[in-house]
Amino acid sequence: MPRLVIISNRLPVTINKKEGELIYYPSAGGLATGLNSLDESLQKVWIGWPGRATTDEWERESIRQDLAKDDLVPVFLSQEDIHLYYEGFSNKVIWPHFHYFTQYTTYSEEYWEAYQRVNEQFAEVVRKVVREDDLVWVHDYQLILLPELIRRDFPEISIGFFLHIPFPSYEVFRTLPWRKELLRGLLGADQIGFHTFGYMRHFLSAAYRIAGYEHHFGKLSVGNRVVNVDVFPMGIDYDKYAYPESYGAAEDGEPTIRQLPRGRRLVISIDRLDYTKGIPERIRAFAHFLDVYPEYRGKVRLVLIVVPSRSKVDQYRELKQEIDTLVGEVNGRLGRFDWLPVQYFYRSLNFSELTTLYQVADIAMITPLRDGMNLVAKEFIASKEKSRKGVLILSEMAGAGSELHDALLVNPHDIVEVTNMLHKALEMGEDEQRRRLEKMQERLKKYNVVNWAESFMNEQIKIMEERKGQHINILNGAHRDQLLGDYRKAQRRLIVLDYDGTLMGFLPDPAAVVPDEQLIELLTRLHVTAGNRVVVNSGRDKPTLENWLGSLGIDFAAEHGVWVKKGEQWQVSNALAHEWKKDIRPVLDNLVERTPGSFVEEKEYSLAWHYRLTDKDLGQKRVREFRDVLLYLTANLDLQVLEGNKVVEIKNAGVNKGKAMVNWLNGEEWDFIMAIGDDHTDEDTFRALPESAYTIKVGIAQSAARYQLLSVAHVRELLEELVAEKQS
Ligand code: UDP
Ligand code: G6P
Repeated sequence: MPRLVIISNRLPVTINKKEGELIYYPSAGGLATGLNSLDESLQKVWIGWPGRATTDEWERESIRQDLAKDDLVPVFLSQEDIHLYYEGFSNKVIWPHFHYFTQYTTYSEEYWEAYQRVNEQFAEVVRKVVREDDLVWVHDYQLILLPELIRRDFPEISIGFFLHIPFPSYEVFRTLPWRKELLRGLLGADQIGFHTFGYMRHFLSAAYRIAGYEHHFGKLSVGNRVVNVDVFPMGIDYDKYAYPESYGAAEDGEPTIRQLPRGRRLVISIDRLDYTKGIPERIRAFAHFLDVYPEYRGKVRLVLIVVPSRSKVDQYRELKQEIDTLVGEVNGRLGRFDWLPVQYFYRSLNFSELTTLYQVADIAMITPLRDGMNLVAKEFIASKEKSRKGVLILSEMAGAGSELHDALLVNPHDIVEVTNMLHKALEMGEDEQRRRLEKMQERLKKYNVVNWAESFMNEQIKIMEERKGQHINILNGAHRDQLLGDYRKAQRRLIVLDYDGTLMGFLPDPAAVVPDEQLIELLTRLHVTAGNRVVVNSGRDKPTLENWLGSLGIDFAAEHGVWVKKGEQWQVSNALAHEWKKDIRPVLDNLVERTPGSFVEEKEYSLAWHYRLTDKDLGQKRVREFRDVLLYLTANLDLQVLEGNKVVEIKNAGVNKGKAMVNWLNGEEWDFIMAIGDDHTDEDTFRALPESAYTIKVGIAQSAARYQLLSVAHVRELLEELVAEKQS
């Protein structure tokens, strides 16, 4: 029976020591609730830091045994680890950087080393706990390297990763010296989840621009695996906040908090102490509101809850001082003997206090400068289930902003807008409050935390099943054995290979096009094997193929079948026109001028515009722009416009890679045919071959081929195996 192994920096428990005795307080955060409600037959194990820095081995063992009763497994961190890995790399590098506070990013090699070391420490514990058939789910930015580390030990295991904070834009991410290693760490997972489409888009852009991985509808092929990247906005345990009394809060709430409004309107602000939350900006906006609308003085109060957090990190300490000073200034300047504008608490609230405060508040002002999601916003909405009264002012920069469109959305940097929205919130009629709340409540009820955990796990399971070959037909296992067996037995074998993207890859050097030594040797050995006929069927022109591979003695179809070399001589496959080139060439030259890095390739019977060395998005935009122009120009000329992988080619109609195959199929008898190709011009080859042929697509896109291989490296591996077959 597979188990679900959850790994996060913190375990859902806090340990304290009182009079020599260890006391355990479960912390039932949203994550724990979501996971506990998953399929009950699925046994769950949770690995993480128990939050206590103890070096006493006796105490560690006692904690291990106590936690084991609840299927919790501790990873102990030393004081040094906490300083360098948790406060250091996690909270002075990734946290600020991913939240666009690059001025706080501390570029420290010492932190980086500790981060690697502690991720490795987690991997060591994982190694002792997991089995190959378990489902593993890694959480958040403290453990970005872990998926790859687990993958090294368990190549077949199913790993999911969820990032609870934003993923920054490529331009910001690329400035991190450790960007490649971080990407590689994440790509060890089978599935990577984000709160919003924006974060997902940024990640895909970084994966492409930094590591060269292209995606196909959010799926990347990494080595022999498919990695699914998707959006899963985290929800809350809706009923817990809608009906808190059923979950341990006092029936009538906390009486002193219930008294708070005393005839005044109540605005609340609740966050951890964090510079990402925009707390000073919020206090300033509130004061500005009282300056602009003095009639509200004495009638409205801001209750500011700041929960202590990461107090050993300098910026957090400085922020605390800034808030203290600011609250003092505002209260000093605007306060009256019977009214203080800001009521400030630097501590955390328990569940009962928190939910009572949500219920009595008229307005929640949640205006982070950046926030992965922000669950407080969602909890506030849920707690209005019964009253249907209350207004949420929410920052556009919070992940929740992409879901809660009926909140009053603001740019937290825009003090005028925040002020106006606060005024609008205070003036809003009850009907409108109800209407907005109901819409948001409907969404939060449906997409609650249980739904979030389930949809993430369901997708992860689907990916695992696809990997087992149910949907994508990767050429391995029995199919591969059969291919090798048929190859061995055959006397006359036809092997058709596309060039770019099949024999030469985009990784590690996307610009590499000239065949390397390994490829030359491989093709030579394949060619000299008795009974083999090797054809490189490419879109490249005849001089290039001749120059690169001509001396090997293999056959060619060049320019998508315009030219054919079978044995010694090149022949043109049809009497083809080429006068049209002089009309089309200027259009393509213009395209090059507007698209840096692109170039035109002129062949005898075709013209091609290549954009593989330009920004992919720009290239595709240009293709869209020029498609219509080209179609118009070529309409009466018996030409076709072919879109390949980062190339657009204009050539005579009626010629393609598939038609070129006639030269090898007519009048010949083969007892083994294999064709491999990566882009859609190769689909013609696959279709032209008899059903018994082994047709293989490189990549995960839809194809007429029977099998798939995921990369150039895998193609070369297969060819190596074929060569070895005949030698053994
Ligand atoms: N919270 C709490 N006590 C408090 C204040 C907040 O338990 O005094 C909880 C709150 O209910 C929410 C979480 O802390 O579930 C904060 O999550 P959020 O996504 O808003 O921000 P984060 O702290 O993760 O950046
Ligand atoms: C955010 C992060 C979590 C983290 C939490 C509290 O929500 O995404 O991973 O656990 O803040 O921060 P702390 O540093 O106290 O664990």
